[in-house]
Amino acid sequence: MRILLTGGAGYIGSHTALTLLKAGFEVIIFDNLSNSSFEPLRRVSKLVNKPVKIIKGDVRNFEALRDIFRNNEVDAVVHFAGLKAVGESAVKPLEYYDNNFNGSVILLKAMSDAGVYKFIFSSSATVYSEKQKMPISETNQTGNLTNPYGRSKLMVEDMLKDLAAANPLWKIAILRYFNPVGADESGQIGEDPRGVPNNLVPYIAQVAMGRIPHLSIFGNDYQTIDGTGVRDYIHVADLAQGHLSAIAALNRLCGAHVWNLGTGQGYSVLQIVRNFEICSGKAIPYQFCSRRPGDIAICYSDASKAERELGWKAKRGLEEMLNDTWRWQLMNPEGYC
Ligand code: NAD
Ligand code: WQD
Repeated sequence: MRILLTGGAGYIGSHTALTLLKAGFEVIIFDNLSNSSFEPLRRVSKLVNKPVKIIKGDVRNFEALRDIFRNNEVDAVVHFAGLKAVGESAVKPLEYYDNNFNGSVILLKAMSDAGVYKFIFSSSATVYSEKQKMPISETNQTGNLTNPYGRSKLMVEDMLKDLAAANPLWKIAILRYFNPVGADESGQIGEDPRGVPNNLVPYIAQVAMGRIPHLSIFGNDYQTIDGTGVRDYIHVADLAQGHLSAIAALNRLCGAHVWNLGTGQGYSVLQIVRNFEICSGKAIPYQFCSRRPGDIAICYSDASKAERELGWKAKRGLEEMLNDTWRWQLMNPEGYC
């Protein structure tokens, strides 16, 4: 099977490419490199000892996509391409709607013209409404969101459900990721944020390296085990495996389906800090500061639907997530450059 990965040079895309290649799939990567480079794919190619087909381009370029589908027999598309910074999306809403929503419209048109109907979409736990009973299952309420990023993802989800209702040929997996962390166990590929990281684990990794003096913990007065925010961190290699399971499921299912990809287990910021100190052997200086606007106290998944329907379950625990992050950070102190 040949799979097109849009945004396949990015963090989750490069790990999924590796998993797919190891499983014997052929992949084509299509990425505009706005938040990545081809270096992770060069390393993926080395790890599997196979060439990787890479095309530089933008999902908003219909002609470029049309040419890919004309020149290659593609069985399914995994759509990672998009912008993902929640805070930035409030400052640049048009860029987010254009890349994330408009880009998806153009890609789906090109697929429809080419008769390619298997589609796996990178959605996010961000689409769930703020006040939720934990754990969050796929039937929990979505919408009423506080940022354009989340809205752009939910708009694509709604469009995908409309597509599936209009044409029974579509086979669509909407994957709602919780908090992806970690790196491939080889230490060759990992998360390489540009500038100061927005997310907790890459930020802590840079504090442990001494590149950032301390961690600011956004709030210690939440109703949680120790007052700090709780999240469902999932190893990126488990997440990658979830895409493989979704592709397999679409061979037998029709229509649009939603699956949470999480572990079902929440950890607080302080628990992450303590565990990172153990795995790295470094002290992580931190100070408490005020809550980050838009943050909620607790968010973790009910991942049982994916287990039931995809036969997928996250296998790696927190220790492995943090050990792999630390190995990647030590082996690549400056990231990919
Ligand atoms: P990433 O930024 O590392 O990867 C996204 C890739 O898409 C990058 O390589 C970027 O260059 C490319 N890209 C962006 N706009 C494009 C366009 N218009 N045309 C072609 N390529 C384009 O991000 P990631 O963490 O790997 O996330 C992948 C997907 O998963 C995104 O859609 C993101 O919204 C979603 N997601 C990520 C997280 C997370 O915390 N990392 C959580 C939930 C959902
Ligand atoms: C985790 C916890 C923070 C940084 C984001 C997006 C979400 C998804 C995943 C794309 C929270 C705390 C963080 C720091 C801290 N991405 N924190 N100090 O906010 O759960 O989810 O990434 O879809 O849409 O919103 O992840 O890693 O930023 O934060 O105290 O410097 O760590 O308050 O409790 P979040 P995160």
